[in-house]
Amino acid sequence: MKVLLVGSGGREHALAWRISQSPKLDQLWTAGGNSGTVALGVNLDLNPEDVDAVTQAARSVAAELVVVGPEVPLALGLVDRLTAVGIPAFGPTRAAAQIEASKAFALEVMRESGVPCPDFQVFDDEPEALAFLEKHPGPMVVKADGLAAGKGVSLCPSYAESAAAVRACMSEETFGTAGKTVVLEEMLSGPEVSVFAFTDGQTLSPLAAACDYKRLRDGDLGPNTGGMGSYAPPGFWRPSLAKEIADTVMAPVVRAMARRGTPFQGVLYAGLMLTLDGPKVLEFNCRLGDPETQVLMPALESDPLDVFLACCRGGLSECAVKWSGRHHVGVVLVSGGYPGSYSTGMEVSGLNSDLPGTMVFHAGAKLDPQRAGGVLTSGGRVLTVVGQGDSLDEARSKAYERAGLISFPKAFYRRDIGALRAGEMVESSGWPAPTG
Ligand code: AMP
Ligand code: GLY
Repeated sequence: MKVLLVGSGGREHALAWRISQSPKLDQLWTAGGNSGTVALGVNLDLNPEDVDAVTQAARSVAAELVVVGPEVPLALGLVDRLTAVGIPAFGPTRAAAQIEASKAFALEVMRESGVPCPDFQVFDDEPEALAFLEKHPGPMVVKADGLAAGKGVSLCPSYAESAAAVRACMSEETFGTAGKTVVLEEMLSGPEVSVFAFTDGQTLSPLAAACDYKRLRDGDLGPNTGGMGSYAPPGFWRPSLAKEIADTVMAPVVRAMARRGTPFQGVLYAGLMLTLDGPKVLEFNCRLGDPETQVLMPALESDPLDVFLACCRGGLSECAVKWSGRHHVGVVLVSGGYPGSYSTGMEVSGLNSDLPGTMVFHAGAKLDPQRAGGVLTSGGRVLTVVGQGDSLDEARSKAYERAGLISFPKAFYRRDIGALRAGEMVESSGWPAPTG
């Protein structure tokens, strides 16, 4: 099978790595890509968000399957365009991608299908939003409705902060059109988990769960980032919790999307908080997570091409999706200064240092045009170093051993990935650890 993968991050290198292991693969191209994907196929120098160019490329390489990594091309209708020219594409249509592209839409779907979520109100009008806040001056979460590259959420302890966040969205247009509509949400607390299910629009695969770390520094301190690491499976991930989330969150949403005439096909990602009242959805995404994919792809036992094609064509019920349950820890190596300004073009060394049970996924990294086989940094998040093991501790020590062999000037990474565990927070927050 000829496959075109779309995207250029660590998630896409992990997808490319797993797809390359399929005996069904003939050739792999990546629209975008990085120094990791180029070792597994051909990188096409394209902007993954340029729907016309990607569609044209898929036709010219005669792709039999397109796998879309990031949300923006999905929200722009890449899958609709590919389907219209007869190319199966893994990922939701533009209409189904609204589950991520509009938080108000996601909340409406949750409300109509009884999915547990925070209390919320949606506003298109700034004075009305501010009047609501005056009546509810306590802690509030202010969210820009649209896609804001993960930056549109403000956790506001007081009225002054909530009002400032509403103004930033609505009149100051900090997030452009994404903030024209705002969602005001009840502030919840509890450990967070990312839960994933493949779906063909009807059938759901068994769920996979991972925890990610958004803050820059150890102890969950410092600014928010695109993700500093992840691990899977979480200590609290038991069959009973998986069943509860499948029955109360994933299945109702898949049914609601089908009922609306916009079935969701691809991978549905729920960002959940485990509150004292049970799991509640903070957001839905219409794609795999980054850096969660880097710790999930090594645990996917089924042939990825069978799974992706079944999601596009239907028939997922005949395709046994299996997760190994082995432990994986992913540590993200970032450029010094990230998520603020940082330099690029730094030489990365130690990439050939092989260590069994480890993998290195490239993200903001490109081939060095001056040095055969050399790699230079080209972004904030440069690499995800993954360790595998029969226990979380083994996976964690492998990941850090391998990370210690890699270097580039001003490299930075957290030292507590997989050590500061959501499972421990579960117990300390009083959330009853599920049994069964
Ligand atoms: P989102 O982009 O909606 O996932 O929000 C980003 C982060 O903000 C989440 O991972 C949570 O840590 C936090 N967050 C979002 N919504 C809420 C909420 N209602 N209560 C508490 N924290 C939240
Ligand atoms: N790990 C968060 C995300 O992919 O949105």
